[in-house]
Amino acid sequence: MPRVEIPSPFHLSPGQLRRLRRRLLAWFAANGRDMPWRRSRRPYPILVSEIMLQQTQVERVEPKWRAFLKAFPSLNRLAQAPRRDVIVLWDGLGYNLRAVRLHLLAQRISRERHGRLPRTLEELRALPGVGPYTASALACFAFGVDTPVVDTNIERVLRRLFAADPSDPDAPITKRRGATLAAALLPAGRSRDWNLALMDLGAQVCAPRQPRCGACPLAAWCTARAAFAAPRRQAGSQPRSPSTPGGPRRLSRRPAVRFENSNRYYRGRIVKLLRSLAPHESVPLSQLGRRIKADFTVADRAWLGKELRKMAREGLLEVRRKNGRSHVAMPS
Ligand code: ADE
Repeated sequence: MPRVEIPSPFHLSPGQLRRLRRRLLAWFAANGRDMPWRRSRRPYPILVSEIMLQQTQVERVEPKWRAFLKAFPSLNRLAQAPRRDVIVLWDGLGYNLRAVRLHLLAQRISRERHGRLPRTLEELRALPGVGPYTASALACFAFGVDTPVVDTNIERVLRRLFAADPSDPDAPITKRRGATLAAALLPAGRSRDWNLALMDLGAQVCAPRQPRCGACPLAAWCTARAAFAAPRRQAGSQPRSPSTPGGPRRLSRRPAVRFENSNRYYRGRIVKLLRSLAPHESVPLSQLGRRIKADFTVADRAWLGKELRKMAREGLLEVRRKNGRSHVAMPS
């Protein structure tokens, strides 16, 4: 059978490509995950889910998503809510700045577009606080636009399926290569199911550390399969390469920083403390350090001041003067 070159970095015959798509879609029909936002076709609940899912696991998101939509059932209602209430409802999701960005976005869309999200990829991309991933996810899942969506699960599936070096299937790929591969595979008219199928395959089968190639509907086409099927290293032996499949490879190439020492940890502690206050309460700045860091000393003051100024600029808190002293509070 003649091999047809598709304008992409991979070569599959049209028949192979058809079979690959059919196989994955059939797998998805039988194994796709049921999630409440997948049942919705309303853009606003889908927007909320996509923002929440960016850095938080599905199981954690589910109850928070329901509670958020109950409290703010429409984009306009979210826009009218006090910032404080939005941050309070974000409790348990982490990365609180997402709540502020979502709130700002709602206010802008409410003001400029009567609360209606735009429908095209270009307009969605132009919205403040909406990155390329969220724009594609919204276009595809909320508006039925035929567009690839590449999250971390999908990227992993694609880089392994079409690994340039089969012995290093987890070698990072560029965003551009991920986008090209995703676009070349996308079956027109089935984008929604296709993108969700790739996502679920990445989450349930093509897992970061222990892919279950035996259960994979795409194994027949996968470049990485042989590497993952190779015998595992003996305990105590040297790894063949930093990315030996199945080995305890660190997926991030950044040096590890203990979470408890990170600024993100303390930012979370500050927001948690402010959330626990009654609406008009505040914390004297002179007490804040000790309340979020047990071993806080004067040497930490400059660091804390810098973080607080940053968080105030971001809209996560306010620093007010009260009786001649600085107090820290939730934004109003
Ligand atoms: N379904 C729709 N969007 C999703 C996402 N971002 N993560 C997991 N499942 C989803």
